[in-house]
Amino acid sequence: MNNPFILEVKELKKYFPIRKGVLRRITGYIKAVDNISFSIKQGEVVGMVGESGSGKSTAAHSLIRLLEPTEGEISFLGKDFLNLKKQDLRLHRQKLQMVFQDPLASLNPRKTILENLGEALLYHKLVQNKQEQIEAVAHILERIGLPKKALTSYPHQFSGGQQQRLSIGRAIALKPKLVICDEAVSALDLSVQAQILNLLFELKDTYKLSYLFISHDLAVVRNFCDTVLVMCKGKIVERGEAKRVFEHPNHPYTQQLLAGAPAIFPKRRSKSSKS
Ligand SMILES: Nc1ncnc2c1ncn2[C@@H]1O[C@H](COP(=O)(O)OP(=O)(O)O)[C@@H](O)[C@H]1O
Ligand SMILES: [Mg+2]
Repeated sequence: MNNPFILEVKELKKYFPIRKGVLRRITGYIKAVDNISFSIKQGEVVGMVGESGSGKSTAAHSLIRLLEPTEGEISFLGKDFLNLKKQDLRLHRQKLQMVFQDPLASLNPRKTILENLGEALLYHKLVQNKQEQIEAVAHILERIGLPKKALTSYPHQFSGGQQQRLSIGRAIALKPKLVICDEAVSALDLSVQAQILNLLFELKDTYKLSYLFISHDLAVVRNFCDTVLVMCKGKIVERGEAKRVFEHPNHPYTQQLLAGAPAIFPKRRSKSSKS
C-alpha cells in the first residue's frame, strides 16, 4: 500500500532557553512548539491558525530545519527527515519549499529574476545549462502571470503582489511536493490577496502540490483549506475539517478566536463591490 501521507509530524517540540544573569544560566524554556503531531496527505491543504506568538512560524521553521527541533519525528516522503544523509537532505530540501510573508526574504535584490529563480535550478540539477535555465524560468513566469521580459528585471521593479508571485515562482520552479506558506498573503491588499490565493490554487492543481497554509486570518484559511489545525501556546488545541471547525468549533480557544474576529467573516462580496 502506498503511504497517502507526504508529511508526518510526531510529538514535535521546539523549546527556546531563557537565560538570566551574568552567567547566562538557563532559568527556563519558552515552549514555542510543545508536542504537536499532524500529517499532510498528497494534494491536501492544511491550514494552521492561531494568534500571534502561538508557535506557527517556529513550527514551520522546524519543519524545514531552519531551526533544529528540540524533540520529535518528521517523516517527509516516507523518510526520517531529521536523520537524513547529506545527499538525501538536499533532495528533500528541494521537495519542501517555503513562501514567507515578506517576498524579499527569498529574493535577492541584487540579482535579476532569472538569477533569483534560476540559480537553484542549476544547483539542484533540474536544468543542465543556461539555455534550459532561461526556458524553465520563462515558463514559470508565464505560470505566475508575469511577462517574459521580467527575466532581466530586479525584484524592486515589481509591486508587492508581483514580488510575492515571484517568491511563489521561485518555490514552484523547484518542483516541490509540499509548500509551506507562512502568512504568505497577510501583507497584501485584499484584492491582491485573492489573486495570489487563486494562483496558489491553480499551481496546486497543475503541480499536484500540498500546502501547509499558515495564517492568522481565519477567513483566508476557511476558504482555502481542507483541514485546519488550531494552535494555542505551542499546542494544537483543535483540528478537523475546515468547514466543521469554523461552523462548530469545539475548543473554547477556537470559539474565542472566531468571536474575536467578526470582521473577517464578511458575507461573500458581490462581484460589483470593490475591495
Ligand atoms: N529565536 C527565538 N528565540 C526565543 N524565542 C522565540 C524565538 N522565536 C520565537 N520565539 C518565541 O516563540 C513563541 C512562538 O513564536 P512564533 O513561532 O513566531 O509564533 P507565531 O508565528 O504563531 O506568531 C513566541 O513566544 C516567541 O516569542
Ligand atoms: Mg509567525
